[in-house]
Amino acid sequence: MTARLLDGAALAASIRTDMSRRAAALRALGHPPGLAVILVGSDPASSVYVKHKVKDCEEAGIRSILDRLPADTPQDALLARIDQLNADPSVHGILVQLPLPPHLDAQRVIETISPAKDVDGFHISNAGALMTGQPRFLPCTPYGVMKLLEHAGVALAGAEAVVVGRSNIVGKPQAMLLLQASATVTICHSQTRDLAAHCRRADVLVAAVGRERMITGDMIKPGAVVIDVGMNRISQGPNAGKLCGDVDFDSALEVAGAITPVPGGVGPMTRAMLLVNTIEAAERAAAAQCN
Ligand code: GUN
Repeated sequence: MTARLLDGAALAASIRTDMSRRAAALRALGHPPGLAVILVGSDPASSVYVKHKVKDCEEAGIRSILDRLPADTPQDALLARIDQLNADPSVHGILVQLPLPPHLDAQRVIETISPAKDVDGFHISNAGALMTGQPRFLPCTPYGVMKLLEHAGVALAGAEAVVVGRSNIVGKPQAMLLLQASATVTICHSQTRDLAAHCRRADVLVAAVGRERMITGDMIKPGAVVIDVGMNRISQGPNAGKLCGDVDFDSALEVAGAITPVPGGVGPMTRAMLLVNTIEAAERAAAAQCN
């Protein structure tokens, strides 16, 4: 038996269509939605991600402002630019692409973004809001994963969920969202003893480590739902350079009940959820102006 494929590309396309409609409604009311994206330096992967974000906005009818700043931009200049965007009523979402060059304090930069415009959901007050069950903006990747699970009809209450990876961007918020959905959640990381044993207990396994094909079929419980957040390049062999996930897809496919492909699984959902957060921010701003 082979696993069912969870088609993130198709679900993301339908979410984008919804967001285009909501963007058109906002424009018709005189509140065109706007997203500002800041890229510091020219990291090739970050440049591609940012290009996609701008293109997604254009296609959804969301105005985008792209600030490409030199790699040696001083911290004060970056913070001043964020303050400017915080004060600009035509900008509803602000995103600073990570990672930042090492001379910049990423946490300080994130905390400078107004929580009401923090469409990445990385600000400490948004992270705290998620933690306490009153989420405002959810980080796009875990948010997209939850939408995929919901769309696939995966029952989470009481399920064993294992998240591999503990980043602030994916692992930790993912675990929190699964917990809120009443799963029993385990977070595994680089110091975890016997990762395979933890993974094998998972009804829902989320791999978010950034290591090429490290979760193999023998680490997966038969019938489990496997969500692959990884976006890696194959380092060796005939397929070197091609995109792959954190899960060894071929061996996982034989064991899992359902699995997200890479590409075409979580990636498009992450992109779509940024549009959702931006539209929500713009709708909140428009509603606040009406009151
Ligand atoms: N770098 C990798 N993923 C992300 C993301 O979701 N948001 C931002 N701002 N930077 C990232």
